[in-house]
Parts: sequence; C-alpha cells; structure tokens
Amino acid sequence: MSPVARILVVDDEPLAREALCDLLSREQYQVESTGEGRQVEPLNREFRPDLILLDLRLPDLDGLSVLRQFQQAPEAPGFVVMTAYGSSEAAIQAIKYGAFDYVTKPLNFEELRVVVRRALEHRRLTEQVAALRENYTAAVGVRNMVGNSPAMQEVYKMIGRVAPSEATVLIRGESGTGKELVAEALHAHSPRSKGPLVKINCAAIPETLLEAELFGHEKGAFTDARQQHLGRFEQASGGTIVLDEVAELSPGTQAKLLRVLQERTIERLGGQRTIAVDVRILAATACDLEQSVRGGQFREDLYYRLNVIAINLPRLRDRRDDLPELIEHLLRKHESRLQVSSPGLSPEALDLLVSYGWPGNVRQLENVLQRALILARGRPITPELIQPESPLAASGAGVSWPQFDVSRGFHQTVAAVEKRLITEALELAGGNRTRAAALLKIQRRLLYAKMQEHGIADE
Ligand SMILES: Nc1ncnc2c1ncn2[C@@H]1O[C@H](COP(=O)(O)OP(=O)(O)OP(=O)(O)O)[C@@H](O)[C@H]1O
Ligand SMILES: [Mg+2]
Repeated sequence: MSPVARILVVDDEPLAREALCDLLSREQYQVESTGEGRQVEPLNREFRPDLILLDLRLPDLDGLSVLRQFQQAPEAPGFVVMTAYGSSEAAIQAIKYGAFDYVTKPLNFEELRVVVRRALEHRRLTEQVAALRENYTAAVGVRNMVGNSPAMQEVYKMIGRVAPSEATVLIRGESGTGKELVAEALHAHSPRSKGPLVKINCAAIPETLLEAELFGHEKGAFTDARQQHLGRFEQASGGTIVLDEVAELSPGTQAKLLRVLQERTIERLGGQRTIAVDVRILAATACDLEQSVRGGQFREDLYYRLNVIAINLPRLRDRRDDLPELIEHLLRKHESRLQVSSPGLSPEALDLLVSYGWPGNVRQLENVLQRALILARGRPITPELIQPESPLAASGAGVSWPQFDVSRGFHQTVAAVEKRLITEALELAGGNRTRAAALLKIQRRLLYAKMQEHGIADE
C-alpha cells in the first residue's frame, strides 16, 4: 500500500459525491469518484484504491452486486458502504459480502472519518498478514520442498493461502512431482497441525477392503471382522486425511465419499449409527480426472466437491532451473542417511542430468542420485554412475528371463515372470507407476497389488 491511501467514492448524487471528495481530500487521501456502479470495476483496475466508499443505492447496478463482484477477488480493496437510514437488512447483507463497515445516510462526517481510518488500518494489517504468511511458507514452512522456479513459487503461495482454511484441496501432478509433500505442508500449516495426518493410497488397497479401511467396521460386519475397527476417517479426527490416487475409487466408494464431503458423517460397515467426523480432506491424483468424468468412471458431483481448490505441481522437465538446487538437496538428504559424503557431481554428470527428460520427476531423480551415491563411494559422481535411462532400455536387449523349469512348478515360475516384468516396466518408466501400468497395459490397481505380492518396493 502506498503511503498516501487511495479512496474511490461511488455515489450517484453529485452534491453528496462532491462533499465526500472534498472531505477526504482534506484528510490527505487521494480521491477518485464515480456515480455509476458499472464504473467501479474498471476504475478499480486503473486507480487501485485501497478503499471504496460505496453507496448501496445506485441507479444502474446496485451496491450489493458490486460487492459480490469483488467478493472472491484475491486483492480486492476494502469496502465501506453507505445505506439509507433504517435499512439494516441491506447493511447486514453488505457485511456478509465482505464490506468492512457501513455508515448511514445522512452522513455524519466525524463518524465517517473514523470508519474510513479504521477500514484502511484493517486492510493494511490483513495485507501484512497475507504477505507474512506467503513469505513464511516460501522461506521456512515448506522447507522440505526445494525449487524457486516461478511454477514452484506459485505452489508455495497456494499452500500459504489455502493451508489455514478448511477447504478441500485437490493436489494434482504427475507421479513423483511432490504431491505427498504438498499434502504434508498443507497439514503442517493448518490449525489442525497438532492433530493426526492420515494418508491412504486408494489404489494400493484391494477394492473389497478399501471401504472397511476408510470407514471402519463393527464386529461381525463380515466374516473376518472379529472386532470393531476404526476407519481412517475416524483415525484422522481433529486432523487431516489424504486420499491419494483418488481417481481409483470404485463407484460405490465414490458415492460414500461424496456423502462424507456433503454431510461430514460416516457409517461403519455393519453399523447402524451415523458418526460425525471432524476431518479436513485432501485428495491427490496423477490422473486426468476431467477425462475420467467424461468417460463416466468418476462422478461429476464428487469431482466438483474435491476440486474446490486445486494445486498443480509442475513436471520436473518444466522446471529445469530447479535441478541444481534439487540435486544438491537430495544429495545432502541421502548422504546422511547412507552415511557417505559426496563431493558432488562432475560438470559432465550435471549436464547429463539437466538435459534428461525425467518422466518419473523428482522421485526418479532421487532414485538415480541414491544409486550414484552408493556407487561413487565418496568420489565425485561421473556420468557412468548415473543412468537415468534403464540400461536395459538403452541396449534394447540383455533381458535375463527366469529359467523355465518345470520342476519349480507353475505358480513359482509365473510369479518370477510377473516380478521380472513389473520390475522392468517400473525401471523403464523411471519409477512412474502410472506409466509402468500403461506400459504393461494393466490397471494401476493390479500393478500395486502385484508389487505388494512380490515385495517390490514402492520407492
Ligand atoms: N520440490 C521438492 N523438493 C524436494 N524433494 C521433493 C520435491 N518434490 C518431490 N520431492 C521428493 O521426491 C519424492 C517423491 O515425492 P512425492 O512422494 O511427494 O511425489 P508424488 O507426487 O506423491 O508421487 P506419486 O504420484 O508417485 O505418489 C519424495 O521423496 C519427495 O521427498
Ligand atoms: Mg504420492
């Protein structure tokens, strides 16, 4: 805000307008005025007032409509409205639509002076808080997240803005872009940070078990339900729940989730009671949800409920400027964990990493660096030690398939082949599970199930 506050006066009576402008100019404010509601929007853009003094009764566009135009705008000016004496209903409406205060006509200039001063002070403070919050998140809060590219700055700002609210947030981005980190940051910066953060990967749990996992069950709800079990929603009470890979929910579970979002209640499987849950819901997906909606796999109403606010994570190849910083960060992170110290990358190795396409994003970069750290054993990391592309893919051959040995039996042999196929697909896809599933032409859910079955690590 500039040192001289700017005020826009909106009143259709020329005499009243002039008197107001006089008064405010004498108070050392910079003043503009108009008699038309329709002029407020364009004037706001040109003049950028800190405060708009708005008559609610205007001939062309009434004051409440003007307020509503600005209600959602992130950098809206402050508003003080002027109402006819006795029209309290309009005054209440105005406050509800975001006005700071109201004064009644005929105006008491002394009162007006005080209200204007308070409104400007209030606005200055809220701006300060917003700026502090954004800087804080960018500098300290998201300290596990690295990268200063414009795209990441946007992400940090969004986190700062939406973390304090209760709004449902949809976190979007390719596999390995940091969706989980964003979920953690949103929780850490929310008033619920002292409460639990419960994450559930909707694709990793077999469909038949997922509902029990989410909503819990009563004793005897189904054959294996020997005792009562609290679902993740109840476990997350007072905190945040993260529904990862939310696109993978079955239609039945989607319907139940929609109910949770609408009514904030759940029912345990086999239970009669409706239980209120106090959770903030975050959802993450690497999928094109709009496409799933069009294709009928994902409910449109649920889509709108989840997509109140979206945070979009950039692909690593779209923020290459962040690579040096990310590499440094990830090397330090794993140095201590692996108990090796590394002098870093040779210039050639860095070139190689910066020019690579990173289909598996930061997760893939992290895997590559971890492997290189181990292989380098304290020496500088050179290009031979980093092979982001699978060596198998590069040579196009060298696939050593398990021996088909009848004596090992059908199941063991098939399992060995499956394991091999999946490992290889994951490598080719740079750890990107969505791509790996696509390569294998199977559902991601099946890929997860098989990874678990064969003990293939998620990382
Ligand atoms: N901006 C970042 N700064 C530092 N580390 C990051 C960043 N983004 C991601 N990472 C690291 O990369 C790895 C993958 O991140 P994360 O699990 O959050 O990705 P994701 O989008 O949830 O992926 P997936 O869809 O595969 O689950 C993690 O180890 C995380 O710490
Ligand atoms: Mg994830």
